[in-house]
Amino acid sequence: MSLKWISVLLLLQLSCYFSSGSCGKVLVWPTEYSHWINIKTILDELVQRGHEVTVLTSSASILVNPNESSAIKYEIFPASILKDDFKDLIRKMLDMWICNSPRDTFWTHFSQMQEILWKFSDCIQKFCEGAVLNRKLMTKLQESRFDVILADAIGPCGELLAELLKIPLVYSLRFSPGYAFEKQSGGLSFPPSYVPIILSELSDQMTFMERVKNMIYVLYFDFWFQTFNEKSWDQFYSEVLGRPTTLSELRGKAQIWLIRTYWDFEYPRPLLPNFEFVGGLHCKPANPLPKAMEEFVQSSGENGIVVFTLGSMITNMPEEKANVIASALAQIPQKVLWRFAGKKPDKLGPNTRLYEWIPQNDLLGHPKTKAFITHGGTNGIYEAIHHGIPMVGIPLFADQPDNLAHMKAKGVAVSLDFHTLSSTDLLNALRMVINNSSYKENAMRLSRIHHDQPIKPLDRAVFWIEFVMRHKGAKHLRPASHDLTWFQYHSLDVIGFLLACVAAAVFVTTQCCLFCYRKFAKTGKKEKKE
Ligand SMILES: *[C@@H]1O[C@H](CO)[C@@H](O)[C@H](O)[C@H]1NC(C)=O
Ligand SMILES: *[C@@H]1O[C@H](CO)[C@@H](O)[C@H](O)[C@H]1NC(C)=O
Ligand SMILES: *[C@@H]1O[C@H](CO)[C@@H](O)[C@H](O)[C@H]1NC(C)=O
Repeated sequence: MSLKWISVLLLLQLSCYFSSGSCGKVLVWPTEYSHWINIKTILDELVQRGHEVTVLTSSASILVNPNESSAIKYEIFPASILKDDFKDLIRKMLDMWICNSPRDTFWTHFSQMQEILWKFSDCIQKFCEGAVLNRKLMTKLQESRFDVILADAIGPCGELLAELLKIPLVYSLRFSPGYAFEKQSGGLSFPPSYVPIILSELSDQMTFMERVKNMIYVLYFDFWFQTFNEKSWDQFYSEVLGRPTTLSELRGKAQIWLIRTYWDFEYPRPLLPNFEFVGGLHCKPANPLPKAMEEFVQSSGENGIVVFTLGSMITNMPEEKANVIASALAQIPQKVLWRFAGKKPDKLGPNTRLYEWIPQNDLLGHPKTKAFITHGGTNGIYEAIHHGIPMVGIPLFADQPDNLAHMKAKGVAVSLDFHTLSSTDLLNALRMVINNSSYKENAMRLSRIHHDQPIKPLDRAVFWIEFVMRHKGAKHLRPASHDLTWFQYHSLDVIGFLLACVAAAVFVTTQCCLFCYRKFAKTGKKEKKE
């Protein structure tokens, strides 16, 4: 090769890095279902911009569809769990979680939640072992020289891979129970006086008793609840790295945290510069509907339509519950499109059609859509906010009740209890959000806030990933709190020192005073005697 060509190639290589930031190599450690749907939007955009994206996932992965043509590469390693067993486990976990209603006592509810999360965590740990203990795979990954790893913080291993491959880490995260990861590893602070802790279903306008409740939740999550079996993870990470370490410590090395919400959804609270709020990055303008569906939607006339789905994980429900819902839907003047894969309910009205799958975003963006019946997953809520559609929530598990509590506080949703749901409840809720214009007005207000951002959430997410690739991290954004112990962080050592100073000063002064007083008293006595 001539010198000229070499320099041209070199220049190209440089220009990739310094102009548009393209040509990077991104490794991804994803989590399944809705988390995957969300992160895939980022991956597609990265591919669009010329980066090479490799998703590292196990043979048990549910998300991978090898039939789908995509520019994303998949590195699939053998796992000790079979795909069907993994699916089964997820199903069982979900059933348990849905039965475990927040109406149970606080203690039972959260102990069960922890049990479920630990099962999930054990499974992820097996996958993680399958990856990092696989010599051939690790050598291949080392040789690939990735520039960054993008991982979902709720499925550990990303932080270990980052450490082993010596590449910077970017997290995508919706939340961790009690904000434990964000607090302990990210260094964010959540003042309990005005920041309602996640899963508490409180709003930022708290009465005294609500603040008491919030504090109890905070203490419980800080000192009792453990999202994952940390002991097991800490031991595993220490063994692999050959030095004592913890999951929390490695997690703390993340350069950027991409949080999947925004201020249209969250209540204002203190932030750090390495946290970027990118909620709704997957939202898009609506595409035209399939022809048959469009005809059905148009047949609704002035009354419009209602869109109903319980998310990517729940497509079925007990027959009795389905009938309760169907009979409520039959009584509204709107046409209803319901994503439902179970047996057709007997009470299904002529205005309701069942679909195994619906183009949710396109339907929510349709001008005839009046309301959205949702389980309250963050992805769906964001599509509704994007298009300004009021919601009726039937939350099932995880953050869903809390998400809907946010939407209720912002006046865009009515939330119902799946376990006690009656036809009348659902009917009244639908009438409320459709006929009472305040819900639509609030939804439109949130939508305007959501759209009016200087840089779109997807572009911000991609910008920070590219930034980390260009600069090999984002160390200038890292708060020094990571280097402090907990008592230094709360300035307890300084307060202790100052108190000691004050105490010493008080002691010295009183001793001086006493001394003077005694001396004065003595001379006084002497004088008297004389
Ligand atoms: C991929 O395609 C094959 C044959 O067309 C089919 O049997 C299989 O179920 C498909 N897999 C997925 C995940 O869709
Ligand atoms: C809304 O109110 C109108 C009359 O004011 C009524 O005909 C209609 O049924 C109501 N909508 C719903 C969803 O109940
Ligand atoms: C509409 O909803 C708002 C908020 O829930 C409520 O304050 C108001 O009274 C409702 N209006 C009617 C006419 O029901």
